[in-house]
Amino acid sequence: MHVIMTTDTTITPDACRGFFCTFQKADLFRRCLVLVFAAVFMAFGLAACKNDKQKTRDTIRFAVVADPHLYDTALGASGPDFESYVQDQVKMTAQSEAVFIEAARMIMEMEPKPAFLLIPGDLTKDGEEESHRLMADHLHRIKDSGIAVFVVPGNHDIDNPEAAAYGGFGSVPVYSPKAGEFADIYAPFGYDQAIYRDRHSLSYIAEPAAGLWLFAIDACRYEENTDLHVIGGLLKAETLEWLLIHLEEAREKGKTVIAMMHHGLVEHLIGHGAFIPEALIEDWDAIGRKLASAGMNVIFTGHYHTQNITRRRWDPETFIVEIQTGSLVNYPVPLRVVDFDMGKAEMDVQSLFVKDIPREQYPDEFCCFAAFAKDFSYTHKRDFAVTQLTDRYDLTPAEIEWFATMLTDATMAHFAGDEAMPIEVLLEIFDHYNSGNPDVAEIAQILISLYSDLPPQDNDAVIRLKP
Ligand SMILES: [Fe+2]
Repeated sequence: MHVIMTTDTTITPDACRGFFCTFQKADLFRRCLVLVFAAVFMAFGLAACKNDKQKTRDTIRFAVVADPHLYDTALGASGPDFESYVQDQVKMTAQSEAVFIEAARMIMEMEPKPAFLLIPGDLTKDGEEESHRLMADHLHRIKDSGIAVFVVPGNHDIDNPEAAAYGGFGSVPVYSPKAGEFADIYAPFGYDQAIYRDRHSLSYIAEPAAGLWLFAIDACRYEENTDLHVIGGLLKAETLEWLLIHLEEAREKGKTVIAMMHHGLVEHLIGHGAFIPEALIEDWDAIGRKLASAGMNVIFTGHYHTQNITRRRWDPETFIVEIQTGSLVNYPVPLRVVDFDMGKAEMDVQSLFVKDIPREQYPDEFCCFAAFAKDFSYTHKRDFAVTQLTDRYDLTPAEIEWFATMLTDATMAHFAGDEAMPIEVLLEIFDHYNSGNPDVAEIAQILISLYSDLPPQDNDAVIRLKP
């Protein structure tokens, strides 16, 4: 049986295979509760640390947006196939350009202005050439305002067989650029600035500020696409070796290192790597440890569409902090601004949210875009929960309604970050876990996992990059 509520891959049942097998372990429930409470404690501890922050001359500001999934609506945004796509994918595809324009405005008008912008992949809906050209036009405007832009591809962006135009009564395939064409389109946004490029992927290394090396990593598997694109990530052995060589060089030259990649490198909730394997690159734990040992201590990612920051520590000297940013086409429509004090090796990470776009972009019944975005996510996630609960569990209609609400609330909290389980939910879970019904016990475990926010805080946090 499968149920699952999150990620870019949330909506496709095959994105969560193995979930329940993994959750059969008897001690997991206790571990989950311990981590839920540990996360709450850590959140308070880190909040207390934020008050003593001081900016110095070594501080550089940059912005991050993730998974904008821009779609050129000139390709068509109507008809049953488009409606079905939006329903299945839970992405505000019709509003994607308006949202990106507003996010870009917020970044360009920030004071002080960011030196650069990172976009770790899924630049487009499904890799349509027209959407890539449109994205490049918008990035040129950001660059012309004095903010450098660095991108890497996401799983949706390259040679995607699902690239389509919509109109009238159906959809038709459209061209999706190959890897070399992607690098050409985005040449001004990383590939022309690269001091090194990997021969085996679209990874590169740039120096966006004096003394700061950006490792921009491509772990997408577009070469394996068939009639569907490959969702999961894989870091090729050659690319890993290339990264380790240049991390050593960075260490010898005294460079500060940051990284970005589309796919995740660190688990963001209990059992993440096992029940949603496509969220993380393959062999993520071993590879993460190697990269952390070589001096990569922070990585910016997207893919999973949630606001999440997690620190994984293998030993006191070996750790990595993954700062994952939610998608611009999903609630809560976030972007991040980072003030990085390289001298103190300390990042002050703040989250901002797109709150409004032009009125004609969303239905009249909503007071504002923020209300529409929340309702859009909630409604689609709840519909999905009802379908999954109905198809996969032996529950009464009343139980389906009740669990659908619980699961949808938990998923919304997980997407927004800094999730904390309400005490009444915890008490209900205790009751259900001991009900003797294995289906109900499994759903209780899913709820615990969705609320298990691993430390540190997800939206606003001070990240120390020294052991
Ligand atoms: Fe995505």
